[in-house]
Amino acid sequence: MKQPGPIAVFDSGYGGLTVLSKLVEHLPEYDYIYLGDNARTPYGTRSFKVVYDYTLEAVRKLFEMGAHLVILACNTASAKALRSIQQRDLPTIDAQKRVLGVIRPSVEVVQQWSTTQHVGVLGTVGTVQSESYPIEINKLFPSIVVNQEACPMWVPLVENNEFNQPGADYFVKQHVNNLFEKDPLIDTVILGCTHYPLLSPKIQQYLPDGVKLLEQGDIVGESLRDYLQRHPEMDALCSKNARVSLYTTEQVDKFKQTAGVFFSGEVNVEHLVL
Ligand code: DGL
Repeated sequence: MKQPGPIAVFDSGYGGLTVLSKLVEHLPEYDYIYLGDNARTPYGTRSFKVVYDYTLEAVRKLFEMGAHLVILACNTASAKALRSIQQRDLPTIDAQKRVLGVIRPSVEVVQQWSTTQHVGVLGTVGTVQSESYPIEINKLFPSIVVNQEACPMWVPLVENNEFNQPGADYFVKQHVNNLFEKDPLIDTVILGCTHYPLLSPKIQQYLPDGVKLLEQGDIVGESLRDYLQRHPEMDALCSKNARVSLYTTEQVDKFKQTAGVFFSGEVNVEHLVL
């Protein structure tokens, strides 16, 4: 009989803390471990092979730490590594363990959100180039028109705590305008990067009236609840003592300084080597 373990949440850095916050809000009874690969962030500009290698290392580590279920709370890792890990690696690591991403839950709800059936995606260069959103959306909803915009400056603005500053407006306005130049009929925009919720007040400011902004935290929270209800065997492997432990591959002091911006809970963090 396997010992139950925490639900693991992985991100390239701080961004996944926006998802962790929502998971804790939606499903507070579970234990969570969060790993931010801050020492190697950003992932958004890296090649498929590198993102896959880094993500697989993290997933293996989180399994070793007792998790049976890992959520890739990073769109870039979900886009570039999830499918290979699910199909190629999990069967040899442990067929009972699971890795889930953040793209599919967002894609599943998008048709309900959009009236015009024209959807926009804002993401990292890696996520946009992977074409994961258009591919996944068109698999489920072939009539939806999808346009994307890569926003390479947005993650650095958030990581460097500049997202509230007037300088951020320039880059936010530029990319929002670019997206709507590609398709003025868009009425729903997916924030396809876990860092971007921090910029959402500014993004809202530059969106045309009536356009909805789809943030992933609540959607991933609801989707995980549904998943655990449909998979009681996995639910039984998830321990429930309401504990949250944070880990970073960077120095702990540096993580503590910034993590509070993303996560309202107590920041008890330990260093971890991958
Ligand atoms: N948090 C990552 C995502 O959701 C982006 C950050 C990075 O580039 O590492 O795509």
